[in-house]
Amino acid sequence: TSIEKFIEGIPKAELHLHIEGTFEPELMFEIAKRNNKTIKYSSVEELKEAYSFNNLQEFLDIYYAGANVLIEEQDFYDLTWAYLTKVHQQNVVHVEIFFDPQTHTDRGVSFDTVIKGIYRALEDGEEQLGISFKLIMSFLRHLDEASAFKTLEQALPFKKWISAVGLDSSEVGNPPSKFERVFAKAREEGFITVAHAGEEGPSEYIWEALDLLKVTRIDHGNRCLDDDSLVKQLVEIQMPLTVCPLSNLELKVVTNLKDHPIAKMLDLGLLATVNSDDPAYFGGYMNENYLGITRALNLSKHQITELAKNSFKASWLSDQKKRDMI
Ligand code: ADE
Ligand code: ZN
Repeated sequence: TSIEKFIEGIPKAELHLHIEGTFEPELMFEIAKRNNKTIKYSSVEELKEAYSFNNLQEFLDIYYAGANVLIEEQDFYDLTWAYLTKVHQQNVVHVEIFFDPQTHTDRGVSFDTVIKGIYRALEDGEEQLGISFKLIMSFLRHLDEASAFKTLEQALPFKKWISAVGLDSSEVGNPPSKFERVFAKAREEGFITVAHAGEEGPSEYIWEALDLLKVTRIDHGNRCLDDDSLVKQLVEIQMPLTVCPLSNLELKVVTNLKDHPIAKMLDLGLLATVNSDDPAYFGGYMNENYLGITRALNLSKHQITELAKNSFKASWLSDQKKRDMI
């Protein structure tokens, strides 16, 4: 349809994407086989049937299990390259992606192996597909502060490759305040900071991400709508929210896309963007996310354009490149 063509046609930036969340079942089985690793499910179809979640934790358990078959640098390269070729077809021209080093270092895969594979694919993607990129190292918030500090140490030799640090995994019970000192050290070392906040957790966690972690973007941020004074502040400082519609639907943050708050966010003046989070698990990449909300909320071409422009505004591209895209 014409609206599909319109969505496909506009250049977009992806700002909330976990590279481990792009692991498609077919590639998972292929990599498992060459690494002599077993998967709990006997076929791609059986694995896909397990992708039904009642909340964030049910998803995370399956997502971490899937990542277990990634061992060699080439595995991380193949994972990242598959993602880039996929979104290249969707007119995604800039990506700022997360990787979760602790998911791998905790099972004996070295930090170097992980980042070198991902980074080499990103460089090839820039050269061969014209996709510019930034890399965000995300701490797993269900692990302790000491583990995050250790991960930050491991990242220092690769500082030039990593733009920012983030915070993800099980939100409720693991508030931003748990990582205040790690983030202070990260900022001292020159990293930008972002954090998942207000996905399942309360609006207070968004305040903490702003006040204690000094973030430049809030990942998700849905629950800000519970607190008028928070919304006012987020609008005033034009704090980007990296919203993930299909993720929200699959993890039951919303029960129906028709109830998705992204149109309301735009109306309130919030700098909301559309992102895919973990597309291999949630049934869609960038364009499917745009199309889902466009159909459910009857978005106009003007609103779609605003969301795409917001993705560049909220990015860490140079001011010149932003101007070219907006
Ligand atoms: N890790 C991968 N996707 C995530 C999400 N949506 N929330 C928290 N942690 C995640
Ligand atoms: Zn996420």
